[in-house]
This record gives sequence, C-alpha cells and structure tokens, in this order.
Amino acid sequence: MISKYITTPIYYVNGSPHIGHAHTTIMGDILKRFSLMRGVPTYYSTGTDEHGQKIQQVIEQSGLPADQFLAAQAKEFKDLFDRCNVAYDLFMRTTDTEHMTLVQGVLQDLYDRGMIEKKEYTGLYCVGCEQFKTTAELDELGRCKDHLTEPQKQTETNYFFGLEQHREWLVNWLKSSDDLIQPESYRREILGMLKEPLEDLCISRPKSRVWHGIELPFDTNYVSYVWFDALFNYVSNVRRGDAADFDFWWSNATHLMAKDIIKTHIIYWPIMLRAAGFEPPKHYRIHGYWVAEGGQKMSKSLGNVVDPNDVIDTFGVDALRYYLTKNMGGSDAHISKGLIEATYNTDLANNIGNLHSRVLKFVFKRCDGKTPEPAEIAEPDRELQNYVAKTLDNIVNTVDLITLPDTMKTFLQIADRLNTHYNDAEPWKMVKDESQQNRFLSVCYVMLDCLQMFFRALHPIIPEAAEKALVSIGIKTPSLEPVAVSFSPDTLEPGTPLGTIENLFPRID
Ligand code: MSP
Repeated sequence: MISKYITTPIYYVNGSPHIGHAHTTIMGDILKRFSLMRGVPTYYSTGTDEHGQKIQQVIEQSGLPADQFLAAQAKEFKDLFDRCNVAYDLFMRTTDTEHMTLVQGVLQDLYDRGMIEKKEYTGLYCVGCEQFKTTAELDELGRCKDHLTEPQKQTETNYFFGLEQHREWLVNWLKSSDDLIQPESYRREILGMLKEPLEDLCISRPKSRVWHGIELPFDTNYVSYVWFDALFNYVSNVRRGDAADFDFWWSNATHLMAKDIIKTHIIYWPIMLRAAGFEPPKHYRIHGYWVAEGGQKMSKSLGNVVDPNDVIDTFGVDALRYYLTKNMGGSDAHISKGLIEATYNTDLANNIGNLHSRVLKFVFKRCDGKTPEPAEIAEPDRELQNYVAKTLDNIVNTVDLITLPDTMKTFLQIADRLNTHYNDAEPWKMVKDESQQNRFLSVCYVMLDCLQMFFRALHPIIPEAAEKALVSIGIKTPSLEPVAVSFSPDTLEPGTPLGTIENLFPRID
C-alpha cells in the first residue's frame, strides 16, 4: 500500500515563530491535504528543536527554569500553526521522552559498533548555525555567511563520527534518482561539496560548555550535538507506537526545508541513517528564502519584518496561505504587508471572491435557492465543465512544493475562464427570454458545478474560504481522510438546496 510521510524542519525556539517558519509548515499542510485527495494515507510532522548552545543562552537570559521557558516557546509555535489551520499529525518537541530515548539508543548502538571515536579537535564554531565551519564557508571577513558573525575558535576533546567512508556511497545514492532533490540545482551544489573528503562530524558537546542537551549514554560528561539529536526526529516521530508503522511511513519520506539547511540534511543525515541501519529518505523539496519587499533581509531594526500573526489578524488566514503559496517556489521571494494586501484585493476579493458571490447570489435568486435541473447541457457549457475537471485532476495529481506558484496561476486561469464564460453567456438576459430557458438552466447548473469542483480543489490552499463556498453550493466539506477524489462533470445533484452565501474575501481598502 502506498503511503506518504511529510516532514518540516523542527524550529529553534530561541525566538518567536516568524513568516519563514509559518511558510514551510503551511506548505507541508497543503501537500498533506493534496496527498489525502489522491487517496494516499499521509502522516505529517512538524515541531520544535529545543536543545543546544543557542537555546541554552536564551534560557539563561530568561531566568526561567528550562522546561518552563521551552514549554512557553513551543506553545507559541504550536499556537501559530493551529491558527494557520495546519493539520499536522504530530507536533514534536526534541525534549519529548520518546525522542530522547531513541537518540540515546542510536548513540549507544553506534558507540558499541566502534563508529564513534573520542579525540581532541580545534575548529571555528558558529553558535547561530550550531556548526563548525570550514574557512571556505566563511566570507572574506572571516564571518559566517548566514549570521555575519565571526565563529569562535574552540579546542575541545569530543566524540566524533566518521563520514568519509560513506562519501562514495552518498555520491552514488544522490545520482540514483532524478526525483530525489528538487530543485535540481541543490543536488549539483551538494555533489560539488562532495568532491572534497568529508571531515569527521563532532557529535558531542562537553557539559562544561553546553549543559542543555541529550546526555551521551556512554559518557555522562557530554551531551549530544544538537543536529545529531534534531535530525533523528524524523525517525522518532514515526517510531512512537508500533514499529510496523515506522516501515510504512519511512518507506516514502519527504523532507521539506529552505535552502539554509541542505548540508546537514543531504550530507550528514543520509550517512547517519545508513550507519544506524535505516534507509535514506525518498525526497527532498527545497524552497527559497523570504526577503522583505525590495530584496532586503528582514530585520527588526529595519522594521520590515512580516509577522504571521499580524497578517492573519489583518487579512485572515487564507490570505496568508494564498500569498505564501502563490509566490514561493525554489527561489527567494519578496513579502510585505503591502504586497499581501495587493494580492488579496486583486486575486481573492476581485477575482475569486467576486466570481463566487455574483454567481451564487444570482442563481440563488433565479433558481429558488436550489441547484437547477437543466434538460440538457449545452455544448459550450459542457466544454467548460470538461476543461475545469481535467485541469483540476491534473493539479491534484501533479502538485509539488516547487511548482506551487504555477499551480496557483492555473487556478487563476480557471477563475478567469469561469468569469468570462459567465459574462459572455449573460444568463441575466436569458432568464427574461422564454425561448432561452433551457440554456439559462444549463449555464446556471454548469457554473455551480464548475465552482464546486474549483473550491474542492482549492480547499487544501484556502480551507476556510473554500468551506464557506462549498456550504453555499450545498456541498459537504472535504474530509481529512485518504479518499481519492476525481473531478468529472455533473456530480452536483439538481434540487440540492443552496446554503448561506458569505462574502469570501471582503475588499480591504
Ligand atoms: N533547528 C534547525 C532545523 C533542524 S531540522 C532537523 C533549524 N531551525 S530554524 O528555526 O532555523 O528553521 C530553519 C527553517 O525555517 C528553514 O529551513 C525554513 O524551513 C524556515 N525558514 C526560516 N526562515 C526562513 C525564511 N526567511 N524564508 C523561508 N523559510 C525560512 O534550522
């Protein structure tokens, strides 16, 4: 039986959740909902990364007991994802016992099998990345390219895990499937990094420096390196419960992330899995970075940060989901409240929302509040139905993270075509003409039939508005179960009472 397991990165809790975190987790939700619509059982996890030096620093600054601080931070992420209508199956925290036990088990096993070695090491450590950096990874001023801070020189005795002996296997595996990594450019980037030998990975931190982590089971003076701990969330998430589930889900795992963390995910992670006796993941889907309007980095001091909660308060959750989906593929994209407002008015209020309200209000009034029963469907109306059904079937079957902006363009083309068809047919004139009654009923029926298909297919992206639209057409909300849907004309039952017609997207001035 086919299955799908979708994961997001688990987010550091040293600050409040921002638009980037909301983005990946909303995209995972959208992909999960489409996967269920293809009839595929789908498990979706997100969560928080709560260990390591960076988090330790903010715990110390907060003056609160660690568990209290972490619980409050994790709740902020969970609350945001709930507000975003994210239907995750698991919100994991790396401080969960199930997870910590699994990480300790893996560490002990690798140690027992001689894969972990203790030695002294000197390196340049970036706390922001929680990673040692090679000089090639620093800018001309010797700073981390992501954090623009100078990494600190550290000499320490630590535990190391050898990567080099897996390099050849990793290169071959990366070349084995064209569908493994999208966009393709990231595979080339990683293969470029793999031209050089791989240094051993430092997988411990002495408690004298980092007390906040999972204790090494074979040396209580150390905790696990935070990335070694965090990456294993993808395994521990589907090992809570019976192991049969693990094989079922892990056999088709897709990792979603932005481009900032591909090295840990595509070099370290498959090697860690292989050493621990697990298969590597099946897919990586990598999106770009959100930057402020004009291309600047978002920062509090520049005052250009877009707060997801604020966007939801102003425009509603569907406007946020819609903007993120429409504008982010594999490359960087711009965001600001002004851009979101413009998109809201153009696409949602004036196009999709207006199409829904004018058709529904008219049909409701002229067809006694019921789905009309045409004697036959006229040829141009039939053509429209066939086009809508075929295009939506194609969307549901081929949707993928990187091509979501194209998908949104197709949805808008359908809306345009529906608007044009309705304008050209002029059913408000037909209704007054005795000789045109058959065509009038055909146009009204077909517009409703097309709208119900349209909003069922849009449901994964804008669930709240789609549900309102479906209620107005007298259709039940799609379930969050793996039930394959296909789109075909005339599934709407004539005589079905229409429901309340709400304005889906009131214009914002
Ligand atoms: N804790 C690690 C991940 C461990 S996964 C085993 C981490 N956390 S993070 O809080 O920094 O989150 C990084 C991820 O958040 C990115 O890969 C992306 O999914 C999302 N984003 C954070 N900022 C972003 C943007 N400005 N734009 C788009 N997504 C971004 O790394």
